[in-house]
Amino acid sequence: MKLAELQSAVRGELDELEQQLSEALVSHLPLIRTVADHLLLTRGKRFRPTLLLLSAKMSNSPPSEAIRAATVVELIHTATLIHDDSIDKSELRRGVPTVNFKWDDDVSIAMGDFLYSKAFYLLVSNGMYETMDILAEATHRMSVGEMLEIERRDDVDVTEDDYMTMITEKTASLMSASCEIGAVLGDTQDGARGYFSRFGHAVGLAFQITDDLFDFMGREKELGKEIGSDVRGGKFTLPLIAALRNATSRDRARIHKILKSGSLMDGNWQELLTLIDEYDGIRYSRERAFAYAAEAKDVIKRFEGSPCYPSLCSAVDYTVERKR
Ligand code: IPE
Ligand code: IPE
Ligand code: MG
Ligand code: MG
Repeated sequence: MKLAELQSAVRGELDELEQQLSEALVSHLPLIRTVADHLLLTRGKRFRPTLLLLSAKMSNSPPSEAIRAATVVELIHTATLIHDDSIDKSELRRGVPTVNFKWDDDVSIAMGDFLYSKAFYLLVSNGMYETMDILAEATHRMSVGEMLEIERRDDVDVTEDDYMTMITEKTASLMSASCEIGAVLGDTQDGARGYFSRFGHAVGLAFQITDDLFDFMGREKELGKEIGSDVRGGKFTLPLIAALRNATSRDRARIHKILKSGSLMDGNWQELLTLIDEYDGIRYSRERAFAYAAEAKDVIKRFEGSPCYPSLCSAVDYTVERKR
């Protein structure tokens, strides 16, 4: 299913979110205004706000607080992307130059902080303490995840367990929080909160594994970000971890050599892709992503019959079937 289609159930709320996002970026400072204009130039998928709003709409029409919370989640997400791009030295995001590339790391750090602080400022000024409680923990976990990734950079011995911990913290935590907030604000049903948190967690894992597959198999034009950047940055993700585990010692040594050479010129990159594929890294990762998607659907099955249930299921499918 197309993204726009699954978002149609919350289209009105998402339009309002766009309005709130541009208001949140208003500043009298010219540099902030310039960077903000650049950020508003292109739109991300708004996937986390979509999850939050659909979760909130499971029982009744989401209150205005849900739209506010969705805005805050997108502000936090944008902040983490700006910081992440600076850490990853990425040059392209959403089809346009990253903040660190167009300006520099200083601007990235300061703008990321501007967005983070604005997000929490909005929660306080609206008295949304329960949402703040959930997001305080999620953002803290994301920072731990990012740090963990830095710590394990260039480490060819990184295991699938290490990888799962990293993506749980850096990605699943915010998706889980988004769904949990939706359930809390939407007043879904008694005890629903825990299920929605678990649901978002599984969606987040499927989402990040798919993203990591894109780094090997995606198309730059469609993705709006560079391919091969994880390996180049020493981030060894699931397809590579799985292939290394399955490879003969000779081929494992060959992969290590390519990774250590620091050069991914065409020949090396092609050879690496072939080896990863040959040792089932792609197939295995795809299988894991689909397994987490199935787990997510399983968790919300108990809400079958709720108004937005079909859209939430489509959101899960989209996570693993998407092309960007
Ligand atoms: C990118 O998130 C970072 C990951 C967790 C993989 P998205 O793929 O949701 O990025 P945008 O917001 O749509 O650009
Ligand atoms: C996701 O990690 C970033 C965060 C969750 C903060 P990635 O580094 O894989 O995301 P992309 O590929 O840059 O979008
Ligand atoms: Mg990155
Ligand atoms: Mg990535």
